Amino acid sequence: MSRVAVVTGSNKGIGFGIVKDLCSKFEGSVYLTSRDEQRGKAAIADLEKLGLKPKYHQLDITDDASVSALKDYLVQTYGGLDVLVNNAAIAFKNDATEPFSVQAKETLHINFFKTLDFCDAIFPILRPHARVVNVSSSAGFLGRVPGEELKKKLANPDLTREDLIAVMKDFVESAAEGTHQSKGWGNSAYAASKVGLSALTRIQQREFNADTREDLVINHVHPGYVDTDMTSHKGPLPIEEGAVSSVFAALIPPGAASPKGDYIWFKKEIVDWVNGPLPSQY
Ligand SMILES: NC(=O)c1ccc[n+]([C@@H]2O[C@H](COP(=O)([O-])OP(=O)(O)OC[C@H]3O[C@@H](n4cnc5c(N)ncnc54)[C@H](OP(=O)(O)O)[C@@H]3O)[C@@H](O)[C@H]2O)c1
Repeated sequence: MSRVAVVTGSNKGIGFGIVKDLCSKFEGSVYLTSRDEQRGKAAIADLEKLGLKPKYHQLDITDDASVSALKDYLVQTYGGLDVLVNNAAIAFKNDATEPFSVQAKETLHINFFKTLDFCDAIFPILRPHARVVNVSSSAGFLGRVPGEELKKKLANPDLTREDLIAVMKDFVESAAEGTHQSKGWGNSAYAASKVGLSALTRIQQREFNADTREDLVINHVHPGYVDTDMTSHKGPLPIEEGAVSSVFAALIPPGAASPKGDYIWFKKEIVDWVNGPLPSQY
């Protein structure tokens, strides 16, 4: 069976850059996916103009029917999945008028809880030697969490998925009550969602290590500060550079000892997620 790679939320921005680069580097089929079919097909047409041959499938990670349709399609067509890049995410703008409680609920819903559900749905079809990339952020660095107790809890190498889910649910509830800062969080729902995703990645690698399938590897990346809609085009890096860390993590050769469950900075530097130091501020 031929190999297959899927990138979530790839009709634009960094995800689009990742598909573009994988088209020339990955030996197999590369799927650009989007929640909106028209936007996805337009992106496919743009890549075809460059002589690339990405394939397309609709995917909204918050829609269970859409997730199972993709899963069934991959099983029937390829018998499994070899590379998954969890890139889809949202971020409220700094001047957003929605109350913080709403921002916390919606951001955590997509960037953490539905990304986790998507992984739980798709991981059973990963083939041995599969590579998974969780696109986190510099905002997902543990050192940026203000509260020492909270930091200690999340840094624990034995943190369970139940512990983590409870912490992230508590963030959403505390945000509704206005008590999140007294619980050790900062004032960014986006940062909380990415800290959660990064903590999750470490748990997922431990789960992979105990899996009967050989050599499953997952890492979390900071793609850099990139010129996309999410940053209102303030990031200096072009999407091609924003794709570098994800493509590197997607193409880790079979049997490599490292990186594994690691935090990868945008020029491919492996960073200690708990203690740093960070290679650059963003
Ligand atoms: N740009 C940066 O400087 C930066 C820095 C650090 C981390 N990141 C991370 O890098 C990733 C890509 O960011 P970006 O800057 O390229 O953002 P972007 O331009 O806003 O693109 C986000 C993509 O995710 C999709 N998406 C959102 N919700 C989705 C859902 N429920 N199901 C499927 N797709 C969904 C969007 O689809 P629509 O077009 O339909 O909205 C879009 O394709 C994100 O995880 C982001 O947090 C970005």
